[in-house]
Amino acid sequence: MTRIAIYPGSFDPVTRGHEDLVRRSLAFADRVIVAVATNLSKEPLFTLEERVKLLRTVFGEDERVEIDRFEGLLADFARERDARLVIRGLRAVSDFDYESQMALMNRQLYPELETVFLVPALHLTYLSSSLVREVARLGGDVSDLVPPAVEKALKRKFG
Ligand code: PNS
Repeated sequence: MTRIAIYPGSFDPVTRGHEDLVRRSLAFADRVIVAVATNLSKEPLFTLEERVKLLRTVFGEDERVEIDRFEGLLADFARERDARLVIRGLRAVSDFDYESQMALMNRQLYPELETVFLVPALHLTYLSSSLVREVARLGGDVSDLVPPAVEKALKRKFG
């Protein structure tokens, strides 16, 4: 049986932290579908097409990783794609409230769907897309925090 995991998120933009979690997931999943959410509550910095393109640049070489987009409920998308695992990162205790609610709601909607929480590498624990956006917007160096293609894309956005 092929173990398919879905790694959902906004990926606005993909960071070294996301990259780390995908690599860790491949230790127990045969395939990882990185699923970019199309309906976000807030206006993203990067368009859906840009976010997908950057993810493809980062993971393009690895045929075990697929980049897709989804609309509506994650549980419905997981069912459609025959996935039984959802990957989410836990960086700090403060993430846990929201993440456990989401995991329980997804289980309510799709009982066979198991959420797996992964802890990123220590040096990436403080990292988030929103912090990366903020630092890049204010002219800070994000080269250690994001893949080179994302660094370039951020420079284009913020001049
Ligand atoms: O990167 P993010 O912003 O933490 O990702 C959150 C995301 C997109 C994974 C989450 O909001 C989601 O799954 N949205 C899809 C809608 C859905 O299924 N909502 C109910 C889950 S409890």
